[in-house]
Amino acid sequence: MNTEILLVIGAYLLGSVPTGLLLARSMGINIRECGSGNIGATNVYRTAGKKLGIMTLIGDCLKGLIPVLIAQYLDLFPMWVALIGLAAFLGHVYTVFLGFKGGKGVATALGVLLGTAPLAVLLGILVFAAVLYKWRYVSLASISAAACIPALAFATCVPRETIVMAAVIAVIVILKHHENIARLRAGTETKFKA
Ligand code: G3P
Repeated sequence: MNTEILLVIGAYLLGSVPTGLLLARSMGINIRECGSGNIGATNVYRTAGKKLGIMTLIGDCLKGLIPVLIAQYLDLFPMWVALIGLAAFLGHVYTVFLGFKGGKGVATALGVLLGTAPLAVLLGILVFAAVLYKWRYVSLASISAAACIPALAFATCVPRETIVMAAVIAVIVILKHHENIARLRAGTETKFKA
């Protein structure tokens, strides 16, 4: 098997490691039965505290960043870098270790895009921060940033393959927030408390 395919598989498996679930479990918390039930940093922060929430954010982000940095170090074609990043993201969202039911992918997408479209993701973080500051919903901030990312990637002149990857990631992130969208519409979404 060639290096590229091995890296795609490795990225998927790394992305599949449910950081938040494992960290929360270390505190005796079943994260899938608390708060929103999501395994991501927001829900870990909400139910297991700030420290584990931040550790989940960093861990999930690294799952996306490390594979694309390895791919770039090996000087692989942009198509392979994009496929490896997408594999890490899909690992988190459709993790093999939890019956293909994972998280919403925001932090892992952040890592993938930090490595492949850093300027776009920095602008995306500004969108996230502004929406979170104004409305206090992490989900709305995530959806807003995801919706902007493909255009930001395009505007910052990253390779075409990266733009396509960013667009696929954005669509999946937004779709994975369908329950949050329903709660936002019903006015029952939980606001972020620092
Ligand atoms: O990154 C996920 C975040 O946007 C929403 O998390 O737990 O409120 O569904 P949660």
